[in-house]
Amino acid sequence: MTEVLNVGAHALARVAQLLRDGALVAFGTETVYGLGGDATNAASIAAIFQAKGRPRFNPLIAHYPAAEEAFRHVQTNDRAVLVAQRFWPGPLTLVLPRRPECPVALLASAGLETLAVRVPGHPVALELLRLAATPIAAPSANRSGAVSPTTARHVLDGLSGRIAAVLDSGPCGVGVESTVLDLTGPHPVLLRPGGVAVEDLEALIGPLQRGLPPAEPGEGLRSPGLLASHYAPALPVRLNAVSVEADEALLAFGPALPGARCQFQLSAAGETTEAASRLFEGLRWLDAEGARVRARRIAVMPVPETGLGLAIADRLHRAAAPRG
Ligand code: TXA
Ligand code: MG
Repeated sequence: MTEVLNVGAHALARVAQLLRDGALVAFGTETVYGLGGDATNAASIAAIFQAKGRPRFNPLIAHYPAAEEAFRHVQTNDRAVLVAQRFWPGPLTLVLPRRPECPVALLASAGLETLAVRVPGHPVALELLRLAATPIAAPSANRSGAVSPTTARHVLDGLSGRIAAVLDSGPCGVGVESTVLDLTGPHPVLLRPGGVAVEDLEALIGPLQRGLPPAEPGEGLRSPGLLASHYAPALPVRLNAVSVEADEALLAFGPALPGARCQFQLSAAGETTEAASRLFEGLRWLDAEGARVRARRIAVMPVPETGLGLAIADRLHRAAAPRG
């Protein structure tokens, strides 16, 4: 049985203890709910991969209550310090080389010599990380390949019975996962667009290399999580719809196209920040409601790829990618 705890001093202390004891607990962050386990405990990390059904080659993010603590476990550089000062706590993950003395289980890095670190911008998550007094590895709290959860209910839909508890801190504000930035090489590389807009990062540290440089023969995937089919709702997804077919459900952005079997509005005003916060709720809702009204597909209206729109477009492209 998975226990659901509402936020309070007692609940936080209990969840911190569960984590220290090696159990898995989902908790809210400003981006999405994370599936947390003690990052220094290899058995907990193995249990995270197991509970999610996640391939072991896909590494995890270690979460810390402050930049100084994160930077004790990875090698920093000027850029890392600059972006951490500006965007932490917040929806940004930095990939940096592990320090030799880093106590985070190697399994969390999935065999890479780097570690992804993040200081989340949610007061409850920060308090929990302080109380746990150990870095917490936390992928999004969904079964591998499913849509990320932005409420405790979503977490239970996918993981009920597979984890010890969920700490319910209400719906997530940002609604898409953190931006993942690789700062290990001479040029900063954007591995995943997310809650910090690329424009804001580029204003601070200059142009980001988009996507991954071609892998050397024999080199593994640089960010193996970035496989095409991901965030998949059950219904097929059609992007950039300019009209709706009779058997379609609609994900609307701005004034909605007429004729859909059912529709979910991301942002009537056409704002990408509001749309990001509603995206995963919308995909889940359309899946359920679409099935009920016998829709055959989800049509998605175009969303501009600026601000958080880039992260939205990325998730929608994955949702529409051929299923593998
Ligand atoms: O907002 C978020 O980032 C949420 C919350 C819970 O913090 N977490 C999250 O974790 O989205 P996850 O595991 O679903 O996505 C982490 C991404 C994956 O694409 C993974 O491949 C990449 O970060 N990643 C993790 N460690 C990496 C590393 N050492 N090198 C390259 N990519 C890495
Ligand atoms: Mg995920």
